[in-house]
Amino acid sequence: MHPIKTTVDHTSEAYQANFTTNLASVERLKRELAKSTLGGGEQYVQRHLKRGKLLPRERVEMLLDEGSYFLEIAPLAGHDMDAEFIGAGVVGGIGLVSGKQCFIIANEATVKGGAVSEIGSRKNARLAEIVATNHLPSISLVESAGADLPVQHKIFVPGGAGFKEITRRSKARIPSISVVFGNSTAGGAYLPGMSDYVVMVKKQAQVFLGGPPLVKMATGEIVDEESLGGAEMHSKISGLSDYLAENELDGLRTAREIVAHLEDQPQPKRIAVEEPLYPADELLGVVASDVRIPFEAREVIARLVDGSRFEEFKAKYGTTLVCGWAYLHGFLVGILANNGVLISESANKGAQFIQLCNQQSIPLLFLQNITGFMVGRSYEEQGIIRNGAKLINAVSNSTVPAITVMIGSSYGAGNYAMCGRAYDPRFVFTWPNHRIAVMGGPQLAGVMDIIKRDAAARAGVPIDEAKQAMAKQMLEAQIEKESDPYFATARLWDDGIIDPRDTRTVLAISLLAAYQKPFTGTMEWGVFRH
Ligand code: COA
Repeated sequence: MHPIKTTVDHTSEAYQANFTTNLASVERLKRELAKSTLGGGEQYVQRHLKRGKLLPRERVEMLLDEGSYFLEIAPLAGHDMDAEFIGAGVVGGIGLVSGKQCFIIANEATVKGGAVSEIGSRKNARLAEIVATNHLPSISLVESAGADLPVQHKIFVPGGAGFKEITRRSKARIPSISVVFGNSTAGGAYLPGMSDYVVMVKKQAQVFLGGPPLVKMATGEIVDEESLGGAEMHSKISGLSDYLAENELDGLRTAREIVAHLEDQPQPKRIAVEEPLYPADELLGVVASDVRIPFEAREVIARLVDGSRFEEFKAKYGTTLVCGWAYLHGFLVGILANNGVLISESANKGAQFIQLCNQQSIPLLFLQNITGFMVGRSYEEQGIIRNGAKLINAVSNSTVPAITVMIGSSYGAGNYAMCGRAYDPRFVFTWPNHRIAVMGGPQLAGVMDIIKRDAAARAGVPIDEAKQAMAKQMLEAQIEKESDPYFATARLWDDGIIDPRDTRTVLAISLLAAYQKPFTGTMEWGVFRH
């Protein structure tokens, strides 16, 4: 593997302009992430603290090993959405507990009592998917008022799948631990109910199907909360709790002890880690802040991989897709990175490269910056659909873990061919400059304009130019808004927007997670259309 030689000119106007704009985007990201840590607001946080309780993020911090990382997933879910809080009432991420990589999920009790909202339910489903596909032990720090009752119609049916998944994971030897810190009603009660291990904190945990008011309404029985579902009752009488913790810290200590006795995790093959030759900071100057301006994929790879070394495959063929092998934090990966619009040759090359990585069981890293497949008569004649289908076939049937980072645009079928969310990559992260949609706003509005004009001409109806221009402008603005990375991450289209400079670390944690579930590449594919 040879080091990539950079040709970046730090003094150029373009580099400086990119750096300034990308840095401003990263600063905005930091501000949005800071908001996601505020829970349900000052009033609820203060009330929670006055009750002598730790906040969810403090619980996570105290559970983790000293100095451990915490790769938070979808911290901006629910961002700027009606009836949602940033983070959607749940904190989830990957960190080290008793030396093992675990997935931690903490209810945000200061947001609607930890009730699960519509986006919260979708986030929970995504967190559970990460736990299952990467075979990570999960630790739930529970304090949840169950379903967000005013929107119960949106979560009742899909929300049920979460409990099924816990028990299916149990069967697949993926252990789950619940530590209950507070009130956990109805759906909240089934979290510990379905878990393999349950710890309840004395005088705090209260777990019941229905609280005292509901019991009184249903049967007339009058009972206090502690007798109905307190930690002592469940530890001594019902048997729902396996460990009675003296206080919150004792509960977290108990969870760490449980993880310590779980079986050892697989140790992936890894070579000595080397830093890239070029600083990650330069990514901000390399990457165009405007997705319409292309940038060199190799300059990004050079700032992500060990020693900036890259063994490029078919370097002179299908040059709009850069493919090759590199080590990242000592893990061998096969990288596919867009370097222009996808044409037949690049699609064919990508499909072959994915087959080679499967043959050798090497994980894939997709770096998406794609406006789509090339359109036009000669490209159609050359079989752009047929060749693009080959790449989509390879991506769909590949069985090695894939991780996708959207480093620029993600438009059209290019999103699919480069392993977008629908193609089940283990993780999808995006950069703040990224845009995602079927196509760009001006293009989409332009297409609709032409369609409407053609239809009017066929019907012999005159066009109202002012109305038409207004409709075009509104549609363009709508698509621009919907292509925004915050719009996308709010709806769980990805696992989070990251600072480009953190990409190498985020990928290292993700690759380690991907290796927790043993995998073998496949040599079985659907029919390749030649
Ligand atoms: N759905 C939607 N909102 C809920 C909620 C739920 N399940 N549970 C609580 N909230 C809201 C409250 O209305 C309150 O909102 P407000 O401040 O705007 O009025 C806020 O969350 C805090 O609730 P509060 O009762 O003040 O907090 P608490 O910490 O004193 O008590 C609970 C927390 C969980 C004990 C209590 O809220 C409760 O019993 N909730 C209902 C639980 C339930 O029966 N769930 C069944 C779901 S199927």
